Amino acid sequence: MNTKFYKKFYLLPKWLLELFSWGKSFKNNPIIGSYWLNRCGLHIVRIVLAHGLFRFRLLLLSPLVPAEDRRHFRIYGFILKRNFLPDADFNKLARELHSYEGDVREFVEGTTLTQRVFITGAEREQMPAMRSLIGHPRLDRLMRYCSSKNRRPLYYVENLCNHANVVPRPDPQRDLHADTFHPCVKGWLYLDDTDDSNGPFVYVPGSHCLSLRRLKWEYRQSLEACKRGDARDPARYWDGSFRVSAKDLQEMGFQPKVFHVPANTLLVANVYGFHRRGEATEKSHRMTVWMQARDNPFNPLFTLWPESTARAFEWGWAKVLQRLDRTKLASGEQRNFGGRFTR
Ligand SMILES: [Fe+2]
Repeated sequence: MNTKFYKKFYLLPKWLLELFSWGKSFKNNPIIGSYWLNRCGLHIVRIVLAHGLFRFRLLLLSPLVPAEDRRHFRIYGFILKRNFLPDADFNKLARELHSYEGDVREFVEGTTLTQRVFITGAEREQMPAMRSLIGHPRLDRLMRYCSSKNRRPLYYVENLCNHANVVPRPDPQRDLHADTFHPCVKGWLYLDDTDDSNGPFVYVPGSHCLSLRRLKWEYRQSLEACKRGDARDPARYWDGSFRVSAKDLQEMGFQPKVFHVPANTLLVANVYGFHRRGEATEKSHRMTVWMQARDNPFNPLFTLWPESTARAFEWGWAKVLQRLDRTKLASGEQRNFGGRFTR
C-alpha cells in the first residue's frame, strides 16, 4: 500500500509533464487514461488545443513554402513530389544507401523485418549523398514548415523486408490508425518503386482535419481506451494510436488512397490523418529515407535556430533510442547487427 502510494507520488510530476506534452498513453499514464477526466472531455481539449496551435505556427511559417503546397497540405494532409531529386543525385543516393555498411537496428513487425539506421552527425560524415539530401533547401523548407516547428526532422534510412522468414508478431502498422492525438509529420523519399508487391503506403486524404464527426469518434475512442482489465479489447488499442474500423471510416465519409509511386518520390504526410502500411503480396523490399518530426504540440512557439535545435534533438533522440534498445533487445522484438541492409 505504502510502496504504491510513494510510487504514485514519485511519478506524478512525470505524468503531469506528459499531459502538457506529446504523452499519449492511456495505459501508462493514469491522468491521460482517466475515465472521468476523459468523460469531462480531457482528450478532446488536448486535441482541439494542439490543432489550433499547429495551425497558428503554420500560419507564421507560411513564407517557407509555395501557396499551392500549403493549400494541398491543409486540405488533404499530405504533399507528394515525383522526381524529387535530379536523376544524377538520386542515383548517387541510391548507390550510397544500397552499399551502406554499419550498425543497423532490426525490428519484427508481423511478418515484416524493419531495418533502420538513425542518421546523426557521425553517419552524415560518411554519407555525402545523404548529407546533401538533408541539406537540400527545398526539402529543408518543406519539412520545417510541415512540422510547424521550423527545424529539420529526425532522419533514418528504413528498409522493409516483407514476408521475411520470421516468427510473426502482431503488426500494428498494417491497421488504419492515427499516430497520436496531435498533428505530426512523417516523410518518405522512396528508393524503390512501390506497388502492391512491396506494401505501398495507404493514407486517408482529409482525415487529418478536425470535424464534429471526428471529434465524436475521438471522444468514444478515448472512453474505450480508459477501460481496464477484461473490459478492454487488447487487440484494438495500442498506446494512444487509435485504430479506425472500415465502418467508422465510411461513417466519417472517408476513402483511403493507396500510393503506388515510382522511386525518387517524396511523400510528406500529417500522420494524425489515418494511414497504414499496405500489405505486400510477395517477398520483397522497400527502402526509404524516412523522416520523423514530433515535438511538444502545446508549445505555441517554434525555434529561431533551426540547425542547432535539430542537432540537440538528434543528440537527445540518440540517447532515447539507446535506452529503448535495452528493453526491445531483451523482449526479442529487436536485434542490432553490423552489416548491410538485406536486399
Ligand atoms: Fe503510423
